[in-house]
Amino acid sequence: MSHRLYIETVGCQMNMLDSEMVVADLRKRGYELTSDVKAADTILYNTCSVRAHAEDKVYSALGTLKLMKKRNPEKIIGVMGCMAQKDQQIIFNRAPYVDFIVGPGQLQQVPDLIDCARQGEEQQMAVGLGRRDGSNDEIKRTHETFDPLRDPTMRPTPYQAYLRIQIGCDKFCTYCVVPNTRGPEQGRDPQQIVEEAKVLAEQGCLEITLLGQTVNSYSHTDADGNRTRMSDLLKLLHEVDGIKRIKFVTNYPRDMKKELLETIRDLPKVSPYLHVPLQHGSNEMLKRMRRGYTVEQYREMMYLIWDTLPNASVSSDFIVGFCGETDDEFQTCVDSVREFRFKNSFIFKYSEREGTKAAGMLIDDVPYKVKQERNNELLAVQNEISEAENIKFIGHAVDVLVEGPSKKADKLEQDGPLKQMVGRTHCDRIVVFDGNERQAGQILPVSIYETTPFTLFGAMVTQETGPEVYAL
Ligand code: 5AD
Ligand code: SF4
Repeated sequence: MSHRLYIETVGCQMNMLDSEMVVADLRKRGYELTSDVKAADTILYNTCSVRAHAEDKVYSALGTLKLMKKRNPEKIIGVMGCMAQKDQQIIFNRAPYVDFIVGPGQLQQVPDLIDCARQGEEQQMAVGLGRRDGSNDEIKRTHETFDPLRDPTMRPTPYQAYLRIQIGCDKFCTYCVVPNTRGPEQGRDPQQIVEEAKVLAEQGCLEITLLGQTVNSYSHTDADGNRTRMSDLLKLLHEVDGIKRIKFVTNYPRDMKKELLETIRDLPKVSPYLHVPLQHGSNEMLKRMRRGYTVEQYREMMYLIWDTLPNASVSSDFIVGFCGETDDEFQTCVDSVREFRFKNSFIFKYSEREGTKAAGMLIDDVPYKVKQERNNELLAVQNEISEAENIKFIGHAVDVLVEGPSKKADKLEQDGPLKQMVGRTHCDRIVVFDGNERQAGQILPVSIYETTPFTLFGAMVTQETGPEVYAL
């Protein structure tokens, strides 16, 4: 009988991609996926450490497995990802029935760890970063050979895929645990990235999203000393037949250079969408966060973006309630959202993370209630801006990569060929329109007639309705 695998993934797109790889690896060995944790004989959690909330969720999920493991000791439980790297022994202390923990840099060991657990080995630990012992080569090797194992069924849709171009981060922002869990920044070999993009294209993938903590800092130097930067990589990927759209997240403001923006402008497949987190609107706070730029420098970058790519949509992340944030400082965040008119912002309440500079040096002194209020206030302002920016699309046509029926359509259980379909514009806005399921995986023109802060609503452009004024 084949093994049944239950896998739950929390956190960022990088984790979704990691889970995709692990599932591919296990399927090759005869594992089948199940969405029923009780039916599984192998249970994996791919975890996130960026905020305490994500960790609490995993510990509480592990808590619910305690009794199950007692009754069925043959069930294997593994904890993967950032929490495994960060907490290590703490996971076994809190949940001693976990069979193994495995860090983000050791995921290729998962099948062996499961096999050893089945043979009775307890509390196995496979963790480690290149940074500690200087063994960067080891990390590089594992990731680069590991990444090409893909499982198309785990992708966001059959037409979209994530492609890792970089691992780790060297920026060490004071609040952030990522450099401790994912290790030093390393660009993957561009040839391997291009080969992987070709495979994805052959599998019918139209859109790739390049992943890294600071993708625009991407750099790879080969054995002969030839350096490939992000702009060079985009040019290489632009040549891959079948790929129609190239997106990339996340960007670091200081590395958003003119040459890169000009490359984006000159390559039509590269989406005019830039996620460049500002994190805060106050220079004092940015300094405490050690982000390495001022608001003035961020503003200069925005002018460069607007000058070079007038149609680009820019989105941001913000942290509210970081150590020592005053009301006035918080208001500078609100001002910056109004000034920079982001397409959308992800807003997070500061969550102190052990092992970070902030946890060691600064006091997490903003009460939770104040964090919550500031979060709501900033979100309300951002939603106002998102709505105002979206309204500008009314009366314009956009090219939509159709992803499939909208969630609402599924709930409505509509009969007949007409269904509410959902897709995205080149600038990453969500579009809902009446269509049919056969349109999934096509790029179609849709004319926008209504908007909310999060969605554009439209109708397909037909010969009768055209010609239209196009937006990106
Ligand atoms: N608390 C709250 N938010 C955080 N982020 C990173 N670390 C923390 C933290 N300790 C946010 C940042 C980052 C996003 C992925 O998560 O805004 O850009
Ligand atoms: Fe964390 Fe800063 Fe690196 Fe982003 S750039 S992953 S916020 S340390």
